[in-house]
Amino acid sequence: MSGTAVPGTVIVEPAGRVAGEVTVPGDKSISHRALILGALARGRSYIGNLSPAADVAGTAACLRACGGAVRGFGDGRVVADGAGPGMGLHSPDGALDCGNSGTTMRLLAGVLAGHAGVSATLDGDNSLRRRPMERVAVPLRQLGATVETAAGGRPPLRVTGRRPLHGGTVTLGVASAQLKSAVLLAGLCGDAAVRVIEPAASRDHTERMLRMCGVRVDSDGRRSALVPGPLAPFGIRVPGDLSSAAFLLALAAARPGGAVCCPLVTLNPGRTGILDVLRAMGGGVEVEEADPAGGVEPVGTVSVRGGGLRAVEIGGDLIPRLIDELPVLAVVATQAEGRTVIRDAAELRVKESDRIATVAAGLAALGATVEETADGLIVEGPTRLRGARLDAGLDHRLAMAWAVAGCLASSPVVIDGADAVATSYPGFFSDLGRITGA
Ligand code: S3P
Repeated sequence: MSGTAVPGTVIVEPAGRVAGEVTVPGDKSISHRALILGALARGRSYIGNLSPAADVAGTAACLRACGGAVRGFGDGRVVADGAGPGMGLHSPDGALDCGNSGTTMRLLAGVLAGHAGVSATLDGDNSLRRRPMERVAVPLRQLGATVETAAGGRPPLRVTGRRPLHGGTVTLGVASAQLKSAVLLAGLCGDAAVRVIEPAASRDHTERMLRMCGVRVDSDGRRSALVPGPLAPFGIRVPGDLSSAAFLLALAAARPGGAVCCPLVTLNPGRTGILDVLRAMGGGVEVEEADPAGGVEPVGTVSVRGGGLRAVEIGGDLIPRLIDELPVLAVVATQAEGRTVIRDAAELRVKESDRIATVAAGLAALGATVEETADGLIVEGPTRLRGARLDAGLDHRLAMAWAVAGCLASSPVVIDGADAVATSYPGFFSDLGRITGA
């Protein structure tokens, strides 16, 4: 693996081996929520192993710009001093910069909606500016919040807080933990219970972590209900990010003789779809459970061995459980015998890039047999990938998927915009180099 004279460009050489143990950084989804709940709980909360992701730093900076007392002490340690839901945050001086992070924008919209007297504009980079925001504005308006979007229902978002909001039942059109979380966080400032119904269950970090803070949240997969109440401060050591580990584990699965172990990653059932799929494809997947983080988030050590993969069909309720892992699973599918079909995944079109179009174009350039469909991809394998020059744009998960492809290819893959990995996993290329010997 080497950089070039072009900033942000990385060349990934075919891997000589794929083996080793990597402790991946703290989970991004849990880190966003730990910062937000720390800023809302009344009293002092302690967070360890916070994700070093640029997205998470963005959430911390936005909270601070609104007066949230979240202080970092290096090494992922954070102390937060909150004043209670709906209390203690004020209007920021300028627009809040959510960078590349949909989670920052949507969750903070929910938080600020219930803060009386607070007005804020939430903006982002060119990737975030093309993502749909009416999908969060509409449910928040249903609770009585004032949320305006810009042209085409896109960012910047303008939130004017009000307290109390109403309770009620909100039905979401898409399975999305970001939207569900925005509603639940706004619901903390409601005058009655709020219920959220999704078409399929998404990750339930917000529900679990609110329970950790003593809030009554009942959930049965697709449905979550919250009773507004105070938040108790907490301590949590954030587990490793399975969505970061996924790139290394997927590479191990796709490489005959590959073996990678990632200790102490999140095993939230809304995130482990990747492990179910690698197992179904014939990869050797072992999981050893450890103590839950904060007493609420399942954690374990995951080991994957490679070789002899077969194609699978990926769709339905499985999609929200592996939505972020689909780009790398499409790369793995090029190494599997048969026709892998990914369907029901139209959400990929509104992620950091249109991941159906960008993954299909990249795989085709690498020599794979791939077809783009309205809501997914069809990949025929196995194919020996060849080197190519690919652009990650502003999409971190594409940069990492192309790096995995480079390790499996017969000649180097040049990735422009590879610095996008900092969005979720700044140390990705050095960790990848450790297991491939590059
Ligand atoms: C996230 C939820 C998912 C996921 C994103 C992180 C979260 O988005 O793609 O990377 O932390 O809640 P959606 O909720 O929009 O599916």
